[in-house]
Amino acid sequence: MYGKEIERVLITKEQIAKRVKELAEQINKDYEGKQVVLICTLRGAVLFFADLFRELTGEVEADFIAVSSYGAGTSTSGEVKLIKDLSAPVTGKHLIVVEDIVDTGVTLSYLKKLLQARSPQSVKICSLLDKPSRRKVELEADYIGFEIENEYVVGYGLDYDQRMRNLPEVCVLSPKVYEGK
Ligand code: PRP
Repeated sequence: MYGKEIERVLITKEQIAKRVKELAEQINKDYEGKQVVLICTLRGAVLFFADLFRELTGEVEADFIAVSSYGAGTSTSGEVKLIKDLSAPVTGKHLIVVEDIVDTGVTLSYLKKLLQARSPQSVKICSLLDKPSRRKVELEADYIGFEIENEYVVGYGLDYDQRMRNLPEVCVLSPKVYEGK
């Protein structure tokens, strides 16, 4: 589909499906008897969110939020802007923020503060991918699918310039693409 732009598959469909089930099992246990709001951070987390959401067996609502970071190219400047807010108040609720990737940690750090200011009962983070080597601010996700090296990954929701989100696997982008060759 994207042919030569992809260097290799990093995480297969099967590996993703298995890990999503494991994460959901853990969340089902941890939140037994509790009402949860699962928050999808648009747009990268959409596929992961949908797969995780359907594996949750308790009472769970879905809501959506979008933020964007200012910054040139692939580097994050540290400024985050709220693009689309949640549809409902979250005061007193258990929140799980679902992300596709924690990179510098700037986005989730901003989101966590924003949500905590609304006095929820709890806020936890569930990220499909974690790139700890890129962290600029202290931020730890509570549930992590896969820890990865510092490579540019696309697919399963993650994009390169808004493309490749529809790849069913997590793939490593060929450096030639962003080096402009
Ligand atoms: C990506 C990703 C996280 C953020 C992580 O979003 O979905 O929100 O970057 O990076 P950080 O830890 O360095 O802050 P992006 O801005 O690419 O938007 P998208 O979800 O629409 O792809």
